[in-house]
Amino acid sequence: MERKEKKKVFIRTFGCQMNDVDSERLLARLEKAGFLPAERPENADILIVNTCSVRAHAEQRGLGYLCSLKHLKNSGRIFCLIGCTASLYGQELVEKYPFIDLVCSPGRLPEFPDLLAQAEKGSRVVATGEGGWPFLQDLPQLSDQVTASLYVTRGCSNFCSYCVVPFTRGRLVSRPKKEIVDEVKHLTEQGVREITLLGQNVNQYGADLPDGHSFVKLLCEVHEISGVSRLRFLTSHPKDVPRELLLAFRDLPKLYRHFHLPVQAGSSKILKAMGRGYDASDYLRLIDAVRSLVPEVTITSDVMVGFPLEEEEDFEQTLTLVERVRFHDLFVFKYSPRPGTAAARWGDPVSPEVKARRHRVILELQQSISRQYLEKLVGRQELVLVIRSSRRNRYLLGRTTTDLAVLFPGQRDLTGKVTPVEIVAAKPNLLLGSCSAGELTPDVFSSASA
Ligand code: 5AD
Ligand code: SF4
Repeated sequence: MERKEKKKVFIRTFGCQMNDVDSERLLARLEKAGFLPAERPENADILIVNTCSVRAHAEQRGLGYLCSLKHLKNSGRIFCLIGCTASLYGQELVEKYPFIDLVCSPGRLPEFPDLLAQAEKGSRVVATGEGGWPFLQDLPQLSDQVTASLYVTRGCSNFCSYCVVPFTRGRLVSRPKKEIVDEVKHLTEQGVREITLLGQNVNQYGADLPDGHSFVKLLCEVHEISGVSRLRFLTSHPKDVPRELLLAFRDLPKLYRHFHLPVQAGSSKILKAMGRGYDASDYLRLIDAVRSLVPEVTITSDVMVGFPLEEEEDFEQTLTLVERVRFHDLFVFKYSPRPGTAAARWGDPVSPEVKARRHRVILELQQSISRQYLEKLVGRQELVLVIRSSRRNRYLLGRTTTDLAVLFPGQRDLTGKVTPVEIVAAKPNLLLGSCSAGELTPDVFSSASA
């Protein structure tokens, strides 16, 4: 139903790609319901902050941002807190923050327009838990977009001892394959070329569906869709990686040869306490196996420092693992206890100073590995999918078949196409290239940024 006067919605998102997709789709749903998007919170009637709770710091950022907008509160303006923090604290949030009108967990987002209507009538609404069907189907309006992400699963049933996700997003639910395939087809018909399949642990895709479903089968089916040029998936759990997935990196040419495989720690004692279901040597075997099939694969990972039982010796083992694997890139997090998780009972005994030192040491090690890794690519020719133009259309940003970002000069009409690019220099996290479509000018070396 068309509203008389269109109200405006502003959404700010914190956290993972799952949250980005939630926000994108929620906005699409609200637009369908007659709302308009607002660029700035000052111009909006509905203010929505989508939060993350995976670490205490992430949580504070989301809540801190909403509090920073408190001065905009008036009787006509609705304040909404959605996402994992909403899920975790529910009712407590409306009690603690009187300016919040609506709290909604990720699983209840499909009901959001109705919940908003209640809040608009003056109720303070708290919707937590998992609701009915957790997938928002609404697709955003696409304008010349080459990349798109979609969920294949929601939630997680692993219960790693430090992780709040199974509590905030619920147990694993897989989306029906037909729905995923149809959505990818629809996206490619509108010009999307790069697809990211998202889930907390995509390798468990199908575990809750009738026999015969598996993530690798799904991947193969999406790979068959003719408009898809590149495909990636996030995230995998090392305990659930079948050999077929490693073979997929070798056999599916559109699949980025990039594996994000969070290890979390290099000490088997810590991995056991985390409830990860593998030890350091299992992880190393997996890395060796994928590298022997696909030598050029880029491998990235997540590690945590300062887990409650982590002693210096355990930390050293993480450093040894990082040196041994030589990840192409690594995300390093300082542990923070999360309410309701099994590890929270051990408190937070590793001091902030020790966490900060371990964080710094591991990042320094990784930075030197990443630099050496990228420098080795200089002089090579790569097939690059052009994602978008940047810097007043003078440069193009693309990705290699191993999912590395490359900036190179070229014409905008290459967007969405695959083109050969010669790598001419390496910056931290960015390669610089040149292709026959354009010559490099020296200024790109001094101030390159995506
Ligand atoms: N403290 C710090 N880091 C965490 N992560 C998950 N839970 C916590 C926590 N309680 C990290 C893990 C995960 C990444 C998304 O966030 O490394 O892979
Ligand atoms: Fe959290 Fe573990 Fe699930 Fe990842 S696999 S979301 S770390 S419980």
